[in-house]
Amino acid sequence: MSNETVQVTAGATARQALADEVFRVMSIEHNSGTTGSGKKLPRTRLVLQNARYADIQAVDWDYVLEFKQGDVVKITGTIKEFRGQPQITIRSSARVEDFDVTKLLPTYQGDLAVLESRLDAYIKAIPDERLQLLATKLTDPSGELGRKLRLAPASPAAISHEPYIHGLIQHLTEVSEVARVLADKARDLRPTEYGKINISIVMFGALLHDLAKTTAYEYGAEGIKFSLAGRLNGHVLESYALIRNVLYEAGTFSQEEIDNILHIVASHHGPESDQPPRTIEAWIVHTADLFCSKLGGTFGYPHDPVL
Ligand SMILES: [Fe+2]
Ligand SMILES: [Fe+2]
Repeated sequence: MSNETVQVTAGATARQALADEVFRVMSIEHNSGTTGSGKKLPRTRLVLQNARYADIQAVDWDYVLEFKQGDVVKITGTIKEFRGQPQITIRSSARVEDFDVTKLLPTYQGDLAVLESRLDAYIKAIPDERLQLLATKLTDPSGELGRKLRLAPASPAAISHEPYIHGLIQHLTEVSEVARVLADKARDLRPTEYGKINISIVMFGALLHDLAKTTAYEYGAEGIKFSLAGRLNGHVLESYALIRNVLYEAGTFSQEEIDNILHIVASHHGPESDQPPRTIEAWIVHTADLFCSKLGGTFGYPHDPVL
């Protein structure tokens, strides 16, 4: 499989070649359609997935393919934008046997080392040493939680933002950096009203607001999907419980600090959620989360619809 990243962006019309790229078949249907030259022909429509594409449509006009959902297939053809999304037109295809399907899980296409160094630099800049120490511990790649945080997707399947391996560390880093900028700007804008924003609480809350996405999703041979805890309780409640435990266990935080940090986690989905933001720190993290998740979900990956 080629490692070259295909960029399919808004308005892109370039046709790009695809040679022997391996995908997993996520869904398949047989029907008929009208070609660009007006001919009515039988066709096979598929949704495919691999490390570069969480979800990409493909069509074969020549014959009805014999594949089934879950098959691993090798595709040669072209990729072109169709109705705002990339679509593969298949020229030839073949089933691949004995392939490690976990290699086909959609995966972050940027430089992971750069992302990790941004995360580490951010943590070192948290002014409160207790929160900096705790953030370092929770994200430590030699620990179970830190390892999962650096591996997990930010969403299951292709339903939302960063639905791919290493998506969570990307989302947390981006939300953290945006929240920091917003907090600094707010203090500049109105030093009297916003001068008392607790930067450490904003930074810690932004960094860990989705911490339980480490356990809310499962990823392996079956693809990326909700875990039982993720499906039944959701990542907000699970993150609240996880962070509450570590804050009390640390034994160095006042009740007021704990309540303010937990409020950021509980309210990060904003005014429409069960617990709307009620502090400036919580509003800043919610705003940063909304900004990053909407942009990431709309433009962040080649499979995403262009709105
Ligand atoms: Fe969230
Ligand atoms: Fe988030």
